[in-house]
Amino acid sequence: MDMISLAHENGFAVTRELRRVEQKQLGQFMTPPAIARAMAVRACSRLSLKKTVRVLDPAAGAGVLAAAAVQELLLQDERPEQICVQMFELDGRLRPILKQLADRMRREGDRAGINVKVGIRIEDFLLSDVACDKPQFDLVVANPPYFKLNKKDERASQHLYAVYGQPNIYGLFMAACSRVLNPGGRWCFITPRSWTNGPYFSQARRQMLLRLHIDAMHVFESRQDHFTDDEVLQEAMITWATARSGNANAIEVSTSAGIRDLGESVLHTVPACEIISEDAHNIISLPMQESLPETRSFQATLASHGLKISTGPVVAFRAAHHLSGVPKPATVPLLWMQHVQHMRISWPINKKREHITANAETAWMLVPNANMIVLRRFSPKEDIRRITAAPYIGGSIPGNVLGLENHTNYIYRPGGLINADEAKGLAAFLNSFYVDSYLRRVSGNTQVNAADLRGLPLPSLSALIEIGRRISAASTLMQADAAVDHVLGVRQKVGVA
Ligand SMILES: C[S@@+](CC[C@H](N)C(=O)[O-])C[C@H]1O[C@@H](n2cnc3c(N)ncnc32)[C@H](O)[C@@H]1O
Repeated sequence: MDMISLAHENGFAVTRELRRVEQKQLGQFMTPPAIARAMAVRACSRLSLKKTVRVLDPAAGAGVLAAAAVQELLLQDERPEQICVQMFELDGRLRPILKQLADRMRREGDRAGINVKVGIRIEDFLLSDVACDKPQFDLVVANPPYFKLNKKDERASQHLYAVYGQPNIYGLFMAACSRVLNPGGRWCFITPRSWTNGPYFSQARRQMLLRLHIDAMHVFESRQDHFTDDEVLQEAMITWATARSGNANAIEVSTSAGIRDLGESVLHTVPACEIISEDAHNIISLPMQESLPETRSFQATLASHGLKISTGPVVAFRAAHHLSGVPKPATVPLLWMQHVQHMRISWPINKKREHITANAETAWMLVPNANMIVLRRFSPKEDIRRITAAPYIGGSIPGNVLGLENHTNYIYRPGGLINADEAKGLAAFLNSFYVDSYLRRVSGNTQVNAADLRGLPLPSLSALIEIGRRISAASTLMQADAAVDHVLGVRQKVGVA
């Protein structure tokens, strides 16, 4: 029996004894030998030869993947003099079989004239010093556990750089392992497919793509074929990648006022994707030195501030018989996007159908006449900013309730109130040059939808309120920009397109 089959059989014997729920809690689903071999063959094929090759299996289980990597390295035509394997496993019950495997690895190494060193650490990889340390491995092979983590889990806090919304533990493994690879090192993961899209993995993806060049992907089309022993129903894929050499995907940015202070300029390494938009336009926004720390320190989102964004519920053609061009006893204002300008709501503007009847039939589509931020859902391409947002201060136009037409979005606090400074501050921030250049960098689309805004990094609530305190409810865009600039220290300069 080869090393891989030994590890797999030993592991299967242990997990067979576990209850399903226990297996799920630890994400203990072992890789079948054929897959482990396929992963290792491809991962080792491009490995640049070094005297010592350092291998990491961060969630070793029974060590199937580490075994496959060592076996493959021993079979190479050009072999290293030494192989150092580091395995992490949380479950102490697997220690004896990992020790047995380690002995077998050493013996196979001796037979091939290669010194094989094996380290086994029974601990949480994500909380280990290694996961946060400098690059030191040449090869990472992993089948990490898969389950959602609470955002407050220590592992999520330790790897915040890869967290957006509720993290899945496997995304943290992928991102953390991309950081511990030496340049040119190889990274191979078998995972569910969900990391490839969607907002929850966006930060993990960003981290990975910053450090890795994806070389190959294999998709399993059948849901259970590959994990038959463990009856896993996962849509799985394997990804092979290489750690980028140098800073190919990062750009060093420095600024100086002129020639005299050139020598004092501070270097910032900024991910290329934060500077060059990844759409066909490849717009280059030069970040100003002052803006760099703030750009990366905004950690909040609408959701973390307890806010929600929704689309205006009034669909004009469906509610046509409730709309009117003139006020009537039972009508309340209906806000269309034409009523929304940067930092200002203007109503009425003698527009057709800017009134809506408030009655039992329309009650569901009306919102309380309270503080909120109203945004245009569509703006002309040539508009100076991608977002047009205005603070609405409750009671500034008549009615207990208001209509919001479907071409608007509005931000409110479910089950709570937004105070006036918060509404002004958030509207000013959304209209600001900072948000505009951020959106230009992350999306080529000139229209900003509610999902984009849900993902937008925001400053703290206290900073937003402080911005709001500095402006009136009907300030100009310039005044709002100045307040944002003052509070956040973001210099309102125009990027170079
Ligand atoms: C999906 S299994 C894969 C095991 C093995 N790599 C394989 O391919 O067969 C994931 C393993 O990671 C372990 N594990 C779970 N959380 C871990 C953590 N935070 N650090 C290290 N190992 C962990 C589990 O006990 C389980 O053995």
